[in-house]
Amino acid sequence: MKILLLGKNGQVGWELQRALAPLGDVVGCDFDSPGELAADFARPESLVGLVARVQPDVIVNAAAHTAVDKAESEPGLARTINASAPAVLAAQCAARAALLVHYSTDYVFDGSGSTPRDEDAPTGPLGVYGRTKLEGEQAIRASGCAHLILRTSWVYAARGANFARTMLRLAAERDALDVVDDQIGAPTGAELLADITAHALLRTRREPALAGTYHCVAAGHTSWHGYACHVIETARAHGQPVKVAPGAIRPVPSSAFPLPARRPLNSRLATTRLQQAFGFVLPPWQQGVARVLDEWFTR
Ligand SMILES: NC(=O)c1ccc[n+]([C@@H]2O[C@H](COP(=O)([O-])OP(=O)(O)OC[C@H]3O[C@@H](n4cnc5c(N)ncnc54)[C@H](OP(=O)(O)O)[C@@H]3O)[C@@H](O)[C@H]2O)c1
Repeated sequence: MKILLLGKNGQVGWELQRALAPLGDVVGCDFDSPGELAADFARPESLVGLVARVQPDVIVNAAAHTAVDKAESEPGLARTINASAPAVLAAQCAARAALLVHYSTDYVFDGSGSTPRDEDAPTGPLGVYGRTKLEGEQAIRASGCAHLILRTSWVYAARGANFARTMLRLAAERDALDVVDDQIGAPTGAELLADITAHALLRTRREPALAGTYHCVAAGHTSWHGYACHVIETARAHGQPVKVAPGAIRPVPSSAFPLPARRPLNSRLATTRLQQAFGFVLPPWQQGVARVLDEWFTR
């Protein structure tokens, strides 16, 4: 099997390089890959030539415009990367009977209510990022190509900048911290997403009826405040430098941190469809976070 992996150096893309390796010949690309392997989503038409050169059986697309606040001031670029480029990939997959694996987000929903949403719940993005990601999903479905769209949330990885790393730095520097506690979701490891992708991709190649849209997040949920407390208290228990006192991590509403993009308050995603279709067991979010922290603390 030949797999074209796009966005290979992002959080999920990096883990996909590992998880997809045993499945076949993986050609990994990013927008600054050299020469013929460059995959610039800002120029969607250039992806046609790339697909023709690689001739993949499966395309896994981990590239996206993920800077949600920046997207508000560059909606054209966000749309090109998150919607037009996936549309080109979907058309190429449809034409060559290849499978397209793509990632989407809790931001396609408006975040109202307090219960987990399933895949068929009405969408209602609050900003440019969510809107353009939704357009990407719609283009893929409309193309008629075989696809797996995995909607996920609150992605973190051992590598690169992320919320947990920022909290650890701030906790070592400050006496007190304010962290948002009215947004609820499931921190989901890039490792878990990559492993699920590899299994789901193999199964879907054998059983095409499994293709479709799935919610894919770790089990359980928390607020950013709960997540921060968990990370900081784990660091303290491991003897890491922590200055902030346990009672000085203060819960605050989203309104305390005005940002260009509105965030959904309820990012809970129901994963029953994914678990039942593939027989997966999704581990609690704390399990993946513990692994990453362990990796950082024992370095
Ligand atoms: N991060 C989250 O919390 C989250 C939550 C829900 C869903 N998702 C979805 O999950 C998927 C993977 O996200 P992630 O967290 O791995 O994102 P990420 O770390 O930001 O990776 C995105 C990748 O896309 C690349 N990219 C950006 N502009 C590009 C362009 N013009 N052409 C080609 N590549 C370009 C980035 O390159 P550079 O780094 O060099 O810019 C990066 O390698 C995305 O579809 C995202 O929408 C993410």
